[in-house]
Amino acid sequence: MSPKNANRASGPASRPRPDPQAETMASRLQRPLACLAGLICATLLLAGCQRADTVQRGHRGTGMLQLYDPAYAVKAVDANQIPEPEPVDEAEPDTPLVGEVHKNVQVLKDLNVLEFSRLMQAMSTWIAPEQGCEFCHNPNNLASDEKYPKVVARRMLQMTREINTKWQPHVAGTGVTCWTCHRGQAVPSGDWFKHPGESGAGQNIMGNRVQQNTAGVVTVGNSSLPYDPLSTYLNTETPDIRVQGTQALAGDNRHSIRQAEFTYGLMIYMSQSLGVNCTYCHNSRALASWNESSPQRATAWYGIRMVRDLNVNYLNPIGPLLPAHRLSAEGDNPKVGCQTCHKGAYKPLFGTSMLGDYPELRGPIVRPPAPAASAVVAQR
Ligand code: HEC
Ligand code: HEC
Ligand code: HEC
Ligand code: HEC
Repeated sequence: MSPKNANRASGPASRPRPDPQAETMASRLQRPLACLAGLICATLLLAGCQRADTVQRGHRGTGMLQLYDPAYAVKAVDANQIPEPEPVDEAEPDTPLVGEVHKNVQVLKDLNVLEFSRLMQAMSTWIAPEQGCEFCHNPNNLASDEKYPKVVARRMLQMTREINTKWQPHVAGTGVTCWTCHRGQAVPSGDWFKHPGESGAGQNIMGNRVQQNTAGVVTVGNSSLPYDPLSTYLNTETPDIRVQGTQALAGDNRHSIRQAEFTYGLMIYMSQSLGVNCTYCHNSRALASWNESSPQRATAWYGIRMVRDLNVNYLNPIGPLLPAHRLSAEGDNPKVGCQTCHKGAYKPLFGTSMLGDYPELRGPIVRPPAPAASAVVAQR
């Protein structure tokens, strides 16, 4: 016997031979065990499915239902709480206006000193509860603009007043304060940057994926839709978002499938930001039809224009003031989206207004004119 064959012969012989009887027993046992395991998995999977409550929002038969996951609703309520308002010190008739006391007040000139200090306290709670005044100020020189957050905050004051006056078709009387976006953080949650785009695969001679089929993009709900509809629609003066034809055949509709896909990406982002389904705004039978849409769709239409205005006229110009660690790796500045205010609620803070406590953020305070000096003399 050659050494080769010897090896071969010793191989199988040294291992115990499987008992054919035992083998069939095992396979007989395996089947019910596999079934049991399958059953347990299915039960576990079903237990993972959460209960959803439905609320009818349209006419009967239109299928305009909202699905609410109670666990999600509890989370959204937790995320939309409001801090205690600062106590108010009643002003005396001779309480001076802030401009008479402080040197470098450019926006809040219309406040008296008590209102001004109270708002500074509130701004500390809303933006930087741990650092307080020093987050924006050099404590030895409050008038100085040396810290960038102060310069940004001044612009934010103007932005907040503009939202509450110019954008009432969206924010109504409810309006916003710094808290609506910031919630105690210097950088509000739900801000966004331009997507860095693709490198290498997908964007080469083999074709352009047009941002599609990228896994794990939260903005578009992990769908295969283009990953950055926000830069396309919320950071430019892009016109109306219209993709659906009005006739059965393509006819005059020149909108491309690509435009439709970006539109659906934006719509998923909007729905997620508000914690609602498409039917909160649309009758899905005819997504384009305004007659069959809910009034909330019109509010959302103004919302899209407002967000564009905020990004183009406030957040982008603020960009150069921000330090590098506040920018994206590509140097892009943070921007506002629906999520920045709404944070999963159909109305930010579920529609509670904080402006009753902070009327100065609604817009410049208009005071009754001081009685003319001659009238005061005459009264004496
Ligand atoms: C989020 C940033 C921010 C925080 C926090 C903040 N401030 Fe201010 N502060 C400003 C801005 C912006 C101005 C200028 C307002 C304007 O131009 O209308 C200002 C102006 C002032 C002024 C006027 C200075 C001058 O002479 O012109 C005083 C006083 C002041 N703040 C006090 C405070 C105090 C006290 C605190 C803490 C309780 C505080 N601030 C917290 C942003 C902030
Ligand atoms: C519509 C949402 C929104 C509102 C309302 C808003 N902010 Fe901001 N704010 C932002 C975003 C987005 C940024 C950019 C975040 C960053 O700086 O990285 C920002 C940045 C800032 C910064 C710079 C923070 C840093 O460390 O970079 C300050 C300070 C600030 N806001 C103060 C205010 C104050 C004060 C108000 C109220 C008068 C206010 N903001 C209202 C969205 C908002
Ligand atoms: C918060 C309200 C709101 C929600 C939720 C919403 N949409 Fe929209 N949708 C709008 C508005 C507003 C427009 C028009 C935008 C414009 O003109 O700038 C629009 C436009 C559209 C269009 C284009 C219609 C046309 O005229 O061609 C389609 C398609 C669409 N939405 C689909 C959806 C889908 C699908 C969903 C759910 C994933 C959804 N929408 C969720 C408000 C909403
Ligand atoms: C600056 C903060 C802010 C931003 C950004 C914002 N919203 Fe709103 N939105 C509000 C406020 C405040 C209300 C509540 C108005 C009211 O009380 O009627 C509101 C209300 C709405 C409503 C009406 C809800 C209802 O049930 O009546 C819709 C729909 C809506 N927003 C959609 C959007 C969409 C879509 C975007 C992004 C394109 C957006 N919002 C961005 C502040 C904001």
